[in-house]
Amino acid sequence: MKEKQNKKKKIEGKCRNTSLRSNVISTVSSAAHTIGTTACFFMTKRLYNFLPGGQPDPTINPVFLPELTTQCPQNGDINVRLPMDRISERVFDKQILQNIKDGFAVLQTDAGLYEDVTTRRVVDSYLGMLNPFFGPTFESDFVKAIVKMGKIGVKTGSKGEIRRVCSAFN
Ligand code: HEM
Repeated sequence: MKEKQNKKKKIEGKCRNTSLRSNVISTVSSAAHTIGTTACFFMTKRLYNFLPGGQPDPTINPVFLPELTTQCPQNGDINVRLPMDRISERVFDKQILQNIKDGFAVLQTDAGLYEDVTTRRVVDSYLGMLNPFFGPTFESDFVKAIVKMGKIGVKTGSKGEIRRVCSAFN
């Protein structure tokens, strides 16, 4: 949770004076996890050592908890991968926001979006009955947020490099 709050504060600091509110940027950027997988490594604490006595994160839906513990058993292989967006890991959509609301978030930092009152409001706004007829949609805010974040602290000239392979220096 602290990690999430720090990340959120950092983004908020950098995004002050932008027309897209920082809580919107925090929310939609984390919702990028609509695609892709994570490793059991990131689940260990959340499942087996979240509260004193080894209790799991209470925000996990009780229906989801056994699913997660089956995929990531205690002392099991931490490299096993699981989808971050249950049901629609290969589709860019707002299912992840519904998951977050219902306690089906896989990453703890994603679940945290529904614990903070400002980001919870943003999640709810995208899931409301009137969206997309009123107010910005998740998809349109996502585009704006990524463009804005792409302008933060850009390194130019010899100060940086555009990697040919994402995971390695050129
Ligand atoms: C609040 C900030 C964020 C946090 C704390 C965070 C955290 C994480 C974590 C822990 C994973 C799993 C990594 C692994 O198991 O190897 C992950 C994966 C991923 N993240 Fe984020 N992330 C953040 C923001 C973003 C943003 C802004 C994007 C894109 C715009 C993004 C896109 C992805 C994708 C696509 C994956 C899946 C990678 C794969 O399938 O191998 N994340 N993120």
